[in-house]
Amino acid sequence: MQFAEEPYSSKFSLEKDARVASTVYEGSKKKAAEVSPRIWRLEELVGPRAEEQFELIKAEFGYKLPDFCSIPVSYNELCLSRKTVPIVDSEGRIFSLVVYPSDPGVKKAAEDAAQLLNQSRKSCSFSAKQKAGRRGVFPALNAGFSHGNGRLHPQNFHHNKKNKKILRKLTSSLPFQRLSGFATGVFKTWAPRLYTYCKNYFEKLLESDHKLRQPFSNSILPAAAFNFGPRTVCFPHVDFSNLPFNWCWIWALGWYDWSLGGHIVLWDLKTVVEFPPGSLIAIPSGVCCHSNTSIQKGESRFSFTQYAPGANFRWVDNGFAVQKTAGRPQKARWNMGLSLFSTLDELGLQ
Ligand SMILES: [Fe+2]
Repeated sequence: MQFAEEPYSSKFSLEKDARVASTVYEGSKKKAAEVSPRIWRLEELVGPRAEEQFELIKAEFGYKLPDFCSIPVSYNELCLSRKTVPIVDSEGRIFSLVVYPSDPGVKKAAEDAAQLLNQSRKSCSFSAKQKAGRRGVFPALNAGFSHGNGRLHPQNFHHNKKNKKILRKLTSSLPFQRLSGFATGVFKTWAPRLYTYCKNYFEKLLESDHKLRQPFSNSILPAAAFNFGPRTVCFPHVDFSNLPFNWCWIWALGWYDWSLGGHIVLWDLKTVVEFPPGSLIAIPSGVCCHSNTSIQKGESRFSFTQYAPGANFRWVDNGFAVQKTAGRPQKARWNMGLSLFSTLDELGLQ
C-alpha cells in the first residue's frame, strides 16, 4: 500500500508493454478483450478474499472538521489535502497522474458539476448506443470534434436539438469550465512537452476548418465526454481510438463512499486507485486498460472526461487529408511520443 504524494513506481513499461496500432495514431484493439467486460467489486481485486492481489493507492486526507464542531462529518465533507501522485513506469517516465485537489472552489465545482449532470439526464434523449456501450451501462454524450469511427474528416459531434442545447449549457457552465481549467493547469505543469505538442495540433485543426467547435476555451483537448450516471461505473476497457501517447483526463463526480467503491482500476499495472468525488486522473487511455469498482446501493456516480482522438493528429500529419495507404510500423514515431512525457528527474522530484 502506498500513500499519496509519494511517486508510485510501477513495473509497467510504456515502451515495451503498451500495445499500439502500427501507425502509432491509435492503441491496439486486441488489448480490450483481455479482461472480462463486467463490473468488478473491490473485494475481487484487493484484500484477503481477492483472487489476484492488486496494489492500492490510497487517497490521503488533509484535515477534517474538528471534533467539537457540531456539524456531522460525512465522507463528502472531509477536506482532501492537495496531493498529486505521479505514476512512473519502469523507465522513469511519468505516464499517469492522480490528483486530489484541495482547493475548496474545485471541490464545490465538482459537486455542482455532478448536480448539473444529474438534472440534465432527465432532459436528454439517448439512443440505445448512448445508453449502454462497451464502457458500461450508463448514458453518455460527447462534445467537441473528432475524426474516425465513420467520420471522413474531423467533424463536430452531431446531436439532436435537445441534446445540443444541454451540451452547450454544460460546456458553458462555471463548474465544468473550472474543472477543465484546473486540468489544463495540471497538464502544463506535469507534461509541458506533451501539452505543447497537443496544443500545436489543436490550433492547426481549428485554423484549418472554422466549423470545428472547441468544447472548452481553456483546454487544448478537442473532445469531452459527459457520463450522466446515475451510476457511472465502467467495465474494463481501452479507449483505443485515442492518441496512444496522450493523456485522457477523468474527473470522478457524485456521492458515493469512495473507500468502498468507485475506484479506478489500472489493469496493466495491477493497481487500484482510490478515486473520491472531485478527484482527477490522467491516463494514456489509448493503451491502458481501466475500469471502476462497483458502488453501493443508492449511491450516485458520474464522470467527465477530456481526450484527443488519434485520427485528428493523423489528419494533420497527412496534410489535412485521409491517409490512403496502410501505414507502416513507425517505431520512430512511438519513440517521439514517449519522449513527450516528463521524468521525475527533470521535474526535480527525485
Ligand atoms: Fe475510458
